[in-house]
Amino acid sequence: MPVAVGHRYHLGSMAPNLRPPKGTDDILAPDSRVWRRVLRTWDDWSERFGYDLVMTPIFEATDLFERGVGESTEVVRKQMYTFTDRGERSITLRPENTASVVRAYLNAGIQGEWKGAYSGPQFRYERPQGGRRRQFWQVGVEHLGTDRPGADAEVIELGYRFLVDLGVEGVSVQLNSLGDPEDRTAYVAELRSWLEARAADLSPDARETLKVNPMRVLDSKADAELISEAPAPSERLGQGASAAFDEVRTRLDAVGVPYETTPRLVRGLDYYTRTAFEYVGTSLDTAQTALGGGGRYDGLADQIGGRSVPGVGLAMGIDRIILSLGETDAEVALDAFVVATAGRDIDAAGLVSRLRSAGVRVDSIDTSRSLKAQFKAADRSGAATTLVVGDEWDGGAVRAKRMADGNETDVRIEEIATWLRS
Ligand code: HAM
Repeated sequence: MPVAVGHRYHLGSMAPNLRPPKGTDDILAPDSRVWRRVLRTWDDWSERFGYDLVMTPIFEATDLFERGVGESTEVVRKQMYTFTDRGERSITLRPENTASVVRAYLNAGIQGEWKGAYSGPQFRYERPQGGRRRQFWQVGVEHLGTDRPGADAEVIELGYRFLVDLGVEGVSVQLNSLGDPEDRTAYVAELRSWLEARAADLSPDARETLKVNPMRVLDSKADAELISEAPAPSERLGQGASAAFDEVRTRLDAVGVPYETTPRLVRGLDYYTRTAFEYVGTSLDTAQTALGGGGRYDGLADQIGGRSVPGVGLAMGIDRIILSLGETDAEVALDAFVVATAGRDIDAAGLVSRLRSAGVRVDSIDTSRSLKAQFKAADRSGAATTLVVGDEWDGGAVRAKRMADGNETDVRIEEIATWLRS
């Protein structure tokens, strides 16, 4: 006779797997407090530099990335989350945001200069490790409709100011120019024969890369020594690209952004022309990998099927930046915690509401619980001050306790918000 089982997972069956998919993360406090600070800092700096917010879909027609990012890139060949939807369309979760933003600009029929900032998740099927995730978060900007080198310098400065403000240690900008398409064609041919002549000394991976994308070989860590002798793109610039590269550097000098000219810096995406750059830090976790990068892409709009529109931009990897910041304990989510003595529930609720309206970050637990339980929660919250709603309330005040040293003072109800800020 069958026995009814009231539980979904009975003995002998597998325990439910509650982990997020490989290479993705659940981000909760206290870590998420750092995320809030970082994303707010980004909003602040991108607004200061005059970038409006732009939001594009998380998925796009696959074709956009094949044309935009480039079919010879690792990203398109190996890393895209592509599926067929119910309408038989090939859809891809965005592996980056630049192609989408350029598509949106073209689709909106915008003419001339335009600046947009974004923030959101991107998806790449990578071998996961710290700071290399399958779902990761980028913030970035795109400045379209101008080929002025001043726009390049401004984008580079924005990323630099953002990282320094966050407290990332030892930020430096690695800067290069990849030249114009004409320069590139000649250069790639030269590089290919240079590498082919030394194929026997290259790592097996680099030999494979050489077949599809010779410039990417310059990025092979295993072949660093050999490659340091290879011809560099910035040594083969035409006049236009060369003058632009000089101007970008002059402008960075003028605004005090330090950089290092890095002749063999190449990027993982195909759309770059002229300026290319990456940000690196000195912290252990990030010494090997870029915290962000970007460059100019004057051919991208045309490649995705639009008119020709020059552009320059950057994207920052927030997961990596947060790793490089290390400790998360310093972030406190609350300015004050409210506790109440017996029978003061409604007064306490009124105070919490009033303080929140005044811009204070404040919380409480069930104020009908014992004072001991409430103080325990206050302690755990990390709030610098606990406000006690007790007998003083009838005289128009609350007792404020500084958690660090236990120091107590009575503060007038209408003055609490100002008092907390001082
Ligand atoms: P990207 O270099 O491919 O450029 O990515 C920019 C940054 O995103 C990287 O420097 C890194 O910090 C972060 N990132 C990339 N992949 C991962 C991953 N799997 N896990 C964690 N972080 C990652 C772009 O995406 C271009 N759209 C940048 C750009 C904007 N160029 C012009 N405009």
